[in-house]
Amino acid sequence: MIKGHVFIATSLDGFIARPDGDIAWLLKRDDPSEDHGYNSFMANIDGIIMGRGTYEKVAAMEQWYYEKPVIVLSKTLRQQDLPARLADKVRIMNLTPREIMKLLEEQSWKHVYVDGEQVIQSFLRENLIDDLVITQVPVLIGQGLSLFGSINEDISLKLLKTTPFPSGLLQTHYKICQN
Ligand SMILES: NC(=O)c1ccc[n+]([C@@H]2O[C@H](COP(=O)([O-])OP(=O)(O)OC[C@H]3O[C@@H](n4cnc5c(N)ncnc54)[C@H](OP(=O)(O)O)[C@@H]3O)[C@@H](O)[C@H]2O)c1
Repeated sequence: MIKGHVFIATSLDGFIARPDGDIAWLLKRDDPSEDHGYNSFMANIDGIIMGRGTYEKVAAMEQWYYEKPVIVLSKTLRQQDLPARLADKVRIMNLTPREIMKLLEEQSWKHVYVDGEQVIQSFLRENLIDDLVITQVPVLIGQGLSLFGSINEDISLKLLKTTPFPSGLLQTHYKICQN
């Protein structure tokens, strides 16, 4: 069975970005001397599904950080809108969460990194997320894009691990309990 995984950072008050998408508050707390487990997480991932909002943020950066295939969910972007440097690294798709996971399973993907506010929330609602690694940054930003949104029924999680880092970051690993 294909599994969706979340690996994300939030402010202490639960936001992944400011209302305008700004994540400078997050990047400035990154301590490169600390290993927060991103590389070992990525080593087990077949590819990434992200929303158009997250894609636009990372595409605007100088460097493209992903070595694995990236699928961008969008109803407005087209494949030909991609810059040439990303044309063979990114696929644009307009499918429901269930449809995309079924398609990727048929292509033998087993572990998918699911990223982006709206995309994570829609995958959670569809019960397509297996676990979440949430790295909490000790800052309150007051408002922004929430990691979690409305759901149709409660989702129970099991705490697997908590890791405090000297920088003050606190990482929690939760598994979704299947009802
Ligand atoms: N703190 C962190 O670790 C972290 C991690 C990731 C992202 N972020 C931040 O989060 C922000 C982006 O979040 P966001 O609210 O824009 O959410 P998002 O999930 O990245 O993107 C939402 C967009 O994805 C498209 N979409 C979503 N589901 C779709 C579906 N099933 N089919 C087709 N298209 C679909 C829609 O684009 P169209 O309008 O084109 O259809 C929608 O507007 C950025 O600022 C990013 O930096 C932070």
